[in-house]
This record gives sequence, structure tokens and C-alpha cells, in this order.
Amino acid sequence: MATSSESPQTEILTPAPQYSVHEKQREVLESDARFRICRWGRRAGKNVTGAIDVIEYGRQPWESQWGPDDPRKVLVWWVGPTYDQANKHGYDKIKSGIPDAWIADYGESKPYFIELINGVRIEFRTFDRPKSLQGEGVDRIVLDEADQMREGIWYGDLEPMLLDSRGCALFISKPYRPRSWFHRFYDYGQSADFPEYASWHATSADNPFLAEIPEDKRGTVPPHLFEREYLAELPDDGGQVFRELDDQLFTGDYDVDVAQEYDPSGEFVGEVRRDPGAVTRPVAIGADFARSRDYRVTIAVDAAGELAYYHRGQNESWDGIEDHIRGVYSDYGGVVLPDASRDNKIVSDLAGAGVRLEPVSFSPKTKKQLIETLATLVETGDLTVPDIEALDQLHLELRQLQEDVTDTGYTRYHAPENGYDDSVDSFALAASKLDEIAAAASQREAHDRREEDDTDRGAYSI
Ligand SMILES: Nc1ncnc2c1ncn2[C@@H]1O[C@H](COP(=O)(O)OP(=O)(O)OP(=O)(O)O)[C@@H](O)[C@H]1O
Ligand SMILES: [Mg+2]
Repeated sequence: MATSSESPQTEILTPAPQYSVHEKQREVLESDARFRICRWGRRAGKNVTGAIDVIEYGRQPWESQWGPDDPRKVLVWWVGPTYDQANKHGYDKIKSGIPDAWIADYGESKPYFIELINGVRIEFRTFDRPKSLQGEGVDRIVLDEADQMREGIWYGDLEPMLLDSRGCALFISKPYRPRSWFHRFYDYGQSADFPEYASWHATSADNPFLAEIPEDKRGTVPPHLFEREYLAELPDDGGQVFRELDDQLFTGDYDVDVAQEYDPSGEFVGEVRRDPGAVTRPVAIGADFARSRDYRVTIAVDAAGELAYYHRGQNESWDGIEDHIRGVYSDYGGVVLPDASRDNKIVSDLAGAGVRLEPVSFSPKTKKQLIETLATLVETGDLTVPDIEALDQLHLELRQLQEDVTDTGYTRYHAPENGYDDSVDSFALAASKLDEIAAAASQREAHDRREEDDTDRGAYSI
């Protein structure tokens, strides 16, 4: 280990910044476990922890058993979900937390960076564009909102970069997905079998620096959101109708573009879109129209059983919905299966506009058939959906779907009180066509192969 007398570069940067930290933050900052996982609620102080961690490491990297001792060789990555988040929660916090005299250089174009006078370099990256995560010899990674990141990016892009110098990582996140890699790491941290991992759970109320008392939010936000956001707890994954969602369905490892928002009640609205050039055609597009308090959901499934498109919206005009469905159809083609239980103009207008339609009238009986077909396809692993936060609503609805058997032996599927099942209905509509579209795709493939063979034969016969 280097000491301050060895060379000017290894002198500890002073004056030591003074921080007030809460109890959970202190525990994390005092730990030198290789992989530290914080599953913390909203505003619990995750980013402040990450920023202090980077600053303290940057001042004296030899104090950590991970990464090189020589600060001139040290590269730290702060990785956030988006460019804005990495800059706002990482770059701004860290830059304002250190004296100007420590900063040798900094850059505010992609990627943002700060270079300290001892040679330590800190870069700010994002995981929404995995291609930008190319590099080598990273010694310390702080991964913000880690549970939003796909597992493949950790194993494929980030972890390999820690190998050169036995680097370490701090994962900070609210929980988004039960049984994700982040949760697995959290569990490792709680187990004596994995000494390199340490993990902490904290609720928003663990942060005494908040002016507002988080507990006051209880009752004003939907209970499942309060649990997730403030208590950092996720309801059990085991649904009544759809079991083992994470192992059987949320296994898709493909890139999607997400445009997400939350409406005033904290509900997800927005879009998940796969590049139309990357889907296996034909696709089937299910559209469940909003009834009174519900959401309109559009879901497209492609011929490989992969999710091509998801969109959830509320309070839209009929014209707006019609335009939206026409837009999805013009991007992906295939066939649209609208919920036609109520007489609405959209179905005839869409047909008039040349959209290929197979309207479905929802009755308890058709709903039962649709749900049971969907459950079978999920169980057999024929469908996949990417495991991302923007599809949490779909996950939640599938998990919460309830099955009641009436006295007369009749099975009925429905959302729980105060819950929704529009995403489930829309998914079931699209998935009901999977056999047909998969058959169409393989016929087309066979046809293309025959044509190729004919061309080849033609070439040989010359
Ligand atoms: N040690 C601390 N000293 C003073 N204020 C703190 C401390 N830790 C957190 N805070 C304050 O608490 C608030 C939330 O902190 P921070 O942004 O780090 O939380 P977060 O968990 O990342 O939040 P989010 O859930 O929004 O991502 C901020 O206003 C921050 O300044
Ligand atoms: Mg944060």
C-alpha cells in the first residue's frame, strides 16, 4: 500500500470534506465489500451516498482493497439510466461536493468527466445505450437505478471492465423488478456464502434529512407504489394465474426504446417500442380500449413470440386512439385485434382505413379462453418480454390477476379491486394469434428458402 510520503501524486487530497450522513449511509460508506447493494426507497439518500463514495475513494484510492493504489491509474465510472440522470445525480453532485482546487480538468460533452489533480478520472455514462459502455480498466462503478438495467449489460459490458484491476461496484436503486439480478445480488449480500457482497435495505424514512415525512404519503399513493417507492419492498412475484413470470416470461434479452412517464396518480403511461426492422413478421396487435377508469393498452407480439410494442394511455379521444392504432399498424403491419365489446366507431373506421382487423367481443367466456391460452403460452415459454421497468405495469397486472370460481363452477378472471387488467387483456388478444402468425412466418421462410434453392440451382445449371 502506498503512503503519503512516496510521491506527490499519492498525497491525500485535503481538506477532507465534511459530510453529515445518516446511519444507513454510514454503514455503506464504511464497508469495503467488493459489491455493495443498496435497495433503498425513494429519496432515501442513494445518490448522496454514491457521490460521497466516489469523492472519498478519489481522495485516497489506496485505502480501498479494490482497484489500483496509484491515483494516476484510477478510472471511476458513474453509470445512470440516462444521460440527464447521470449528469444531474452524478456529475453535478460530485463536482459541487469537491473543492475547485482538486479539479485538474472536466468536460461537459459526452461522456462528462472530472479529473482530479492526483490523476483520478471520473466518467459519467449511461446504460440506456449499452454501446456507449465500451472501455477498459474501470476500477470502481457506481450504478444508479441499477434495477432498471438489464442483466446482460452487467455481465456483458460492465463486469468485464472490472477484471483488469479487481475493481468494485456500488449498486444503488429502488426495487423495480422482483427476482431480477439486482435482487439476487441483494440476497447474496445478506448471505454469508457470498463474502464479496454486502447489501442494505432502507426506506425513505431512514433519511432524516427530508423535510417531508415519507410516511405521510401512505394512503395518498396506490399501496403497491407506496410499498415499492417508499418502503423499497416488492410484492411477492407468485401470481395466482400466471406463475413464475420472471423465469418464464420476463426473459427477453433484446433492445427496446422506452418513452415513459407517470401520470398524476403515479401510474405508468408511455411506450415501449422495438425497432420494426428487428421483429419477426407478421405481428399481432391487441388493443384494449379504456372503459371508465381504465387505461387503453396496445400490445404487439411478433411471430417469434417476442414483444414488439407496448403502449398504455388514458383519457384519450377516440380520434386520438384511432390515429395511434393506425400508426402502430403502419409501423408493424400484421393484424389488429381490437376489443369490440362495446359498439364503438373506431373498429369500423379502422376497417375503412384498410387496417386488417379481427375484432373480439369480450364476454366472460371469451375472456376465460383468452386468459387460459395466455397462461399456457407463458408456462411453455413461448412468449418473452424484456425485463425492464417500463413493463412493470404488465408484470403487476399479470401477477395480480385473480381467478374466482363461482358456486356453479364457473371460472372468472378479473383484476383486484383498485387494480387493472387492460395490459393483460391486450396481451391476451395479441397472444391468441401466436400460433397463426408463427405458422405464417415459417411458411414464408420455407417459401424464401425454396426460392433461394431455385436461384442456386439456376446458377449451377449455367
Ligand atoms: N447525508 C445527507 N446529508 C444531507 N442531505 C442529504 C443526505 N443524504 C441525502 N440528503 C438529501 O436527501 C434528498 C434525497 O437524496 P438523494 O437524491 O441522494 O436520494 P435518492 O435516494 O437518490 O433519491 P431518488 O429516490 O429520488 O433517486 C436530497 O435532497 C439530499 O440532498
Ligand atoms: Mg437517486
